[in-house]
Amino acid sequence: MTDRTDTVTTNGQTGAPLWLLAELTYRCPLQCSYCSNPLDFAAVKEELDTAEWIDTLTQARAMGAVQLGFSGGEPLVRRDLETLVAEARRLGFYSNLITSGLGLDESRIEALREAGLDHIQISLQASDPDVAAAVAGSRKAYGKKLAMARAVKAAGYPMVLNVVLHRHNIDQLDQIIALCDELGADAVELANCQMYGWAQLNREGLLPSREQLEVAEATTARWRERLAERDRDMRLLFVVPDYYNDRPKACMGGWGSIFMTVAPDGAVLPCHSARMLPMRFPTVRERPLREIWYQSEAFNRYRGDAWMLEPCRSCDERHRDVGGCRCQAYLLTGDPAATDPVCDLSPDHHLVEAARREAERDTRSAGELTPRNAHESRVFCRS
Ligand code: SF4
Ligand code: FES
Repeated sequence: MTDRTDTVTTNGQTGAPLWLLAELTYRCPLQCSYCSNPLDFAAVKEELDTAEWIDTLTQARAMGAVQLGFSGGEPLVRRDLETLVAEARRLGFYSNLITSGLGLDESRIEALREAGLDHIQISLQASDPDVAAAVAGSRKAYGKKLAMARAVKAAGYPMVLNVVLHRHNIDQLDQIIALCDELGADAVELANCQMYGWAQLNREGLLPSREQLEVAEATTARWRERLAERDRDMRLLFVVPDYYNDRPKACMGGWGSIFMTVAPDGAVLPCHSARMLPMRFPTVRERPLREIWYQSEAFNRYRGDAWMLEPCRSCDERHRDVGGCRCQAYLLTGDPAATDPVCDLSPDHHLVEAARREAERDTRSAGELTPRNAHESRVFCRS
């Protein structure tokens, strides 16, 4: 297919990308069964080098990007992280490190602070070391994460924790929030697992039942009240899994609208999951970032609303949710242009309802999980 050469979408002028997610590497010491990296991550060998990343950051900033996330895999695996952070600061980005905490120590936190890193977010798997080990595939990780959460705060950063919730840990939410409180967290994202990458492969073992979800929401509400009574400023953000909504989210604020991911090998994507879609995404080694964002067929394909199928095409809500998530539509139906089956107007909504029904089975049999690993790494498609 040939590329469009203009910068105009069916909805008018394409705006600048405001967010850049720099996935520096797919390498990671952990093996989380809900990892959002692609199933064939091990096939990506040639990471961008330091000079290529600096060039990419420079191009993105010149296009207007202001928010920068350093992510992975585990971005601390890259020994040039401090160099990239310093460059991000020089360019004027607000930078955030999204990390497991493994590979961090006090001296590295200090080096990152001196380089100008603005924000650090550490992930926790559970409050129970055994559950944490089972989910992350590491016994040592739990203690290390707690120590690094404290060290980040001691270095003057707010302590921002991210806990991915799923069938195996959601019943311990009370203890998880208590642990975050005890650690002195300033903000906690209680993010129910969304079904992409390895999480989609492990969906049966991860999707909580509706009852589990309702109890967790009530627990969060109770904790909010308790924290307010104590005048304790610890923000709790509870993110419901898409599968329990009846309308989809406007994923990434719309395809190619404000968000851009650069994968470890330089592939430029409209979201972190898109590389498993049946389309080709150009890399920064092949074309300038500006050209990819404004002119590539991949970025223009789902901009505006001309691509939409029914029922989205004639739906009054299409500009609010842009038909939902292209990756979710593909993973569930095999067609990335389909209405996101999360929507109860979608002819495929029964697929989401079936997954919810399946999750109603006895929660004591939580289900087997396949840990993220290079051996089983493969191209994955449900269709
Ligand atoms: Fe949104 Fe499409 Fe559902 Fe309408 S039919 S609410 S546009 S996903
Ligand atoms: Fe890719 Fe939603 S995650 S479009």
